[in-house]
Order: sequence, then C-alpha cells, then structure tokens
Amino acid sequence: MELPTQKYMITFVDEQQREQAIEVDPAKTPYGDQGLPGSLLDVALGHGVEIEHACGGVCVCSTCHVIVKEGLESCNEPSEEEEDRLDDAYGVTPQSRLACRCVPNGEADLLIVIPSWNRNLAREGR
Ligand code: FES
Repeated sequence: MELPTQKYMITFVDEQQREQAIEVDPAKTPYGDQGLPGSLLDVALGHGVEIEHACGGVCVCSTCHVIVKEGLESCNEPSEEEEDRLDDAYGVTPQSRLACRCVPNGEADLLIVIPSWNRNLAREGR
C-alpha cells in the first residue's frame, strides 16, 4: 500500500453538514491504533471526528462506512474482505468505503461524507 509522503487535506462532513478540515501530516501517522495506519478512521479519531467503529477498525462490522466524494482515486483499492463487508452496509454507493480500510496516498485532497445512518445505527445498538 502506498503511503503519503506529503501533507494533504481531508474534509469530513457529518449529517448536520458540519465540516471539519484536517491537515494530515504523514510524519504523525498513525494517530492511534484503530484502523489501518493513515486510514480515514485513524485520521478522524485522531482529530475528534466521530466515525462509528464497532469492531475497533479490523474490518468485521461495516459501521465505519463513509462516502468518499472527492479524492477516491488517491486511495488504496478495496480488498475483497472490505467489499464483502460493504455488501452488508446500508445505502452503499460506488464511492463507499470502510473508513478503517481506506488509506489515501496523499496525492489528492479528500471530501468524506459520514452518513447519518452510521451514527443512528450505532446509537440503536448502545
Ligand atoms: S470499524 Fe469495523 S469495519 Fe471498519
């Protein structure tokens, strides 16, 4: 997997249309230990952006489903495992990814939409 060598931006948009723009510094990743190092989940959690991650970022739940509106071409290809999990997710689009598996290479800035059903489903489970 190709990891970034330069800084780039990820903008997360949640269900209330709140935007949070984060500068990702490859020298500082991984930010935590959930999801692949440098994944969307890793970056989000490291900056206080809530994305559900019921399985702890190990690709067995699909609650971390997000939509990569811009910059998808700079991300790793989804594995078969990720695609299988996404099959179980609600409201999947061609730009859907699992945040814990999706790792950008830093060649483009990203716009990520966190679907509202992500939060709602997780709340129901609590
Ligand atoms: S956190 Fe469970 S699949 Fe991503």
